[in-house]
Amino acid sequence: MSRKKRLAIVNLAAFVATVCVAIHAHSQAPVRQIPVPSPPMGWSSWNSFSNTITSQIVMDQAKTMATSGLENAGYDYINIDEGWWLGKRDADGNIVIDDNAWPPVALNDLPGDMGSVVRFIHNLGLKAGIYTDAGKDGCSMTPDLGFAYHDVGSYGHYEQDFLQFAKWGFDYVKVDWCGGDKENLDPAVQYAEIARAIAHAEKVTGHRLYFSICNWGKLSPWTWAPHIDDVSANIWRTSGDIVDPIVASGIHADRKASFDKVLANFDQGIHPEAQHTGAYNDPDMMVIGMPGLTDKQNRVHMSLWAISGAPLLVGADLTKLTPDTINLLTNPEVLAIDQDSAGLQAVKVAEPATGLQVWSKPLTRAGTRAVLLLNRTPADHDIDVHAADIGLADQSRMTSRDLWSRSDLGNFDKTFAVHVPGGEAALLLVSGVDVPAVQFKPDGVTPGHPLCRGCDVHFSKVGAHAEWARIRVTYTNPDKGSRFAELHVNDQVGTRIAFPPTGATPGAITVQALFDRKGATNVLSFSLDRDVMPAITSIDVE
Ligand code: GLA
Repeated sequence: MSRKKRLAIVNLAAFVATVCVAIHAHSQAPVRQIPVPSPPMGWSSWNSFSNTITSQIVMDQAKTMATSGLENAGYDYINIDEGWWLGKRDADGNIVIDDNAWPPVALNDLPGDMGSVVRFIHNLGLKAGIYTDAGKDGCSMTPDLGFAYHDVGSYGHYEQDFLQFAKWGFDYVKVDWCGGDKENLDPAVQYAEIARAIAHAEKVTGHRLYFSICNWGKLSPWTWAPHIDDVSANIWRTSGDIVDPIVASGIHADRKASFDKVLANFDQGIHPEAQHTGAYNDPDMMVIGMPGLTDKQNRVHMSLWAISGAPLLVGADLTKLTPDTINLLTNPEVLAIDQDSAGLQAVKVAEPATGLQVWSKPLTRAGTRAVLLLNRTPADHDIDVHAADIGLADQSRMTSRDLWSRSDLGNFDKTFAVHVPGGEAALLLVSGVDVPAVQFKPDGVTPGHPLCRGCDVHFSKVGAHAEWARIRVTYTNPDKGSRFAELHVNDQVGTRIAFPPTGATPGAITVQALFDRKGATNVLSFSLDRDVMPAITSIDVE
C-alpha cells in the first residue's frame, strides 16, 4: 500500500477519533472535517544538476525514487527544473527540444519528445514536473555550464506552452520569475494569467498541472498566490534559494549549503494566514543529503519543513543518498505531520528566552498538535511546553511523543519540559483536550444563502483564546469541484479559501487568522467577486 493511501487511512482514523471526542464533549455530531490536498512531495533536479539535466539523469532519479523506499513513503514528483530547454522555438512558436539531451526512451518514441520521459516516470507510478519562467527570458545565469541560454521563458506563449506541458503529460509546473523580474512585470497579474492558461490546458487535455509559483517572496505572494485565479491547490516560494547548485562534476562541486540559510528560509516561509485548504508557503527545495549540513542539522531541517507543512522536494542526488538520510526523509510519523489533511502551518506560540522557540501546528485529529522545540542558541537548554500555549485545555492530561526516537515521553499535567541540545530541535506529537470552541453564526447574510454572487457573509464581534485563532468554517458545496471565497479579517489583506465539495450535507475546513483586535471585536467576512460562494453557515473559533 502506498504511503499516501496509508496516510488517508490514518486520516480516516483521526476523523473517527475527532467525531468521538467531540460528540462526547458537545453531545451533538460535529460537522466532518473535509480533507484538503497535502503539500507535494518529490525530487527536483536543480540543486544537484543545475542546467546539466538530461533524460538519463531524470530516469535514474525516478528509478531510485521507486526502489529506495522514497516512493513508498509518499514521494512521487520527479521535477525537471531549468536547463531542459535551450530557448529555441519553431516558426509557430512551439518549443523545440535538444534531441541529444532528450533522446527517445521507448521504441516508437521520437527524439526531443518530452512525453517520452514523462511516460517513463508514469510507468514507475510517479508524477512528472516541468519548469518555465513567467517572463520572456529565464534565469539561465548559473555558470555551472558556462553558457547562458536566453528566451527560455513563456511570456507571450502562456497558452501554447502550458497546453504543450499538459499534452506531454506533465503533472506539475514550476514557474520562475527571473524574466518577469528583469522585464518589470507584475507577478500577481502574470501568475493569474498563467493560472488561466493552466485551466485552459486542462480543459483541452483533461490533464491538470499542479501550479508552483517561484518569485522568491517578491511583492508578498502569500497575499495574492493562495488559489490564484481559482487554482484548487498550489504553492509559492517565500524566499531566495537556500544554496546555488552543487553539481558533483561541476566547477562548484565544493560549494556547501548553510544551516543559517535553512533557518532563514524557514522564518521567511511562515505565513499561517495564507496556508490553508491546499495552498502552501514554499521555503525552497530541501538540501538534506547535500554537502554542508551535519546529520543533526539535516534532522532539524526536516523538522522545520514538517512543522511548516512545507512542500517536501528533495534537492539531493537520490542515487547517492545514504540509508540514514533515506530513513530521515521517510520517517512516517514526521511525514504525517507535514502531510496532515487539515493543511495548516505552525505558529510560534512561545519564546521564553531569545532563541528558545515553541512552534505548534494544529492537526486534523481533535486535541492533537505537532510541537517543535527549537533551540537556536549554542548551549543546551530545557524548553517548556505549556498546554495553554498550544491551545489545549489546562485541566487536560497531555501525552507527548518524540517523533524522531518514535517513543512516548509520558503523561503530563499542564506543562512539561524537554532537554534540547544547542542548535537542535525536538519534534513532538502532543495530545490532550482542545480548549472548547465558540460558535458564531453569520450576522450579515441569511445563513446558508445558496447563491451568493458578489456578496458578503459577515461575522462581527468575534473573539478567540489566542492571538492566532483557529477557525473551523462550516459550509456546503454540492458542486463537483471546489468553490471559493475570500476571507477578510479586520483591515488585513484577504486570503482566497478553497471549499472542496461536501455533497448535500455540510462539512468543515479549518483556517488560522491573526486576531489583531482585543476581545470579541474582530470582524470576519467571506466574500466573492464572481461565481457562486459555498453556503457558509457558522464558524467555530478556538
Ligand atoms: C531560481 C529558482 C531556483 C531554480 C533556478 C533555475 O533561482 O529560485 O529554484 O529554479 O532559478 O535557474
